[in-house]
Amino acid sequence: MLYNIQVTVNGKSYAHTVEPRLLLVHYLRDVLGLTGTHIGCDTSQCGACTVVLNGKAVKSCTVFAVQADGGTVLTVEGLAKDGKLHPVQQGFWEEHGLQCGFCTPGMIMASYALLERNPNPTEAEIRHALEGNLCRCTGYQNIVRAVQWAARQMAESASAAPVRGPRRRAR
Ligand code: FES
Ligand code: FES
Repeated sequence: MLYNIQVTVNGKSYAHTVEPRLLLVHYLRDVLGLTGTHIGCDTSQCGACTVVLNGKAVKSCTVFAVQADGGTVLTVEGLAKDGKLHPVQQGFWEEHGLQCGFCTPGMIMASYALLERNPNPTEAEIRHALEGNLCRCTGYQNIVRAVQWAARQMAESASAAPVRGPRRRAR
């Protein structure tokens, strides 16, 4: 049996007919051609395939494409805007948060999801959030520094942003 799915990926809406066994990672890579999401294991351990589905970091090799039906997916390809890297990407650049780079897309997406829900994480919180992402090169120190760099950068730009319109009273 085949299913019709509609998914918004990186702000663009897609409709496809897929087999129920198709994994989200294969949908992204093989159907949409978004190969920034990597496959690093067969055991749901490495986190190289991490994307943000409906605001939460998920391992896309553990999710069926049909489970994303009606949902919103952000992949590493959707982070840069107007030719400018997202602060998390820039942080990995500034702090040399990669060695071979294979795990980097998953690390970046897990870090992005962390900073969306906790803009000022402690080092322990960063390490905890990245526990599901394995770097076989084992250089975690610079990855943690990259996330700290991004957190500082995002806090600075948030405080520099002009306040638009009257603030709504909290109910
Ligand atoms: S490819 Fe998904 S966890 Fe390794
Ligand atoms: S940088 Fe090589 S696996 Fe992470």
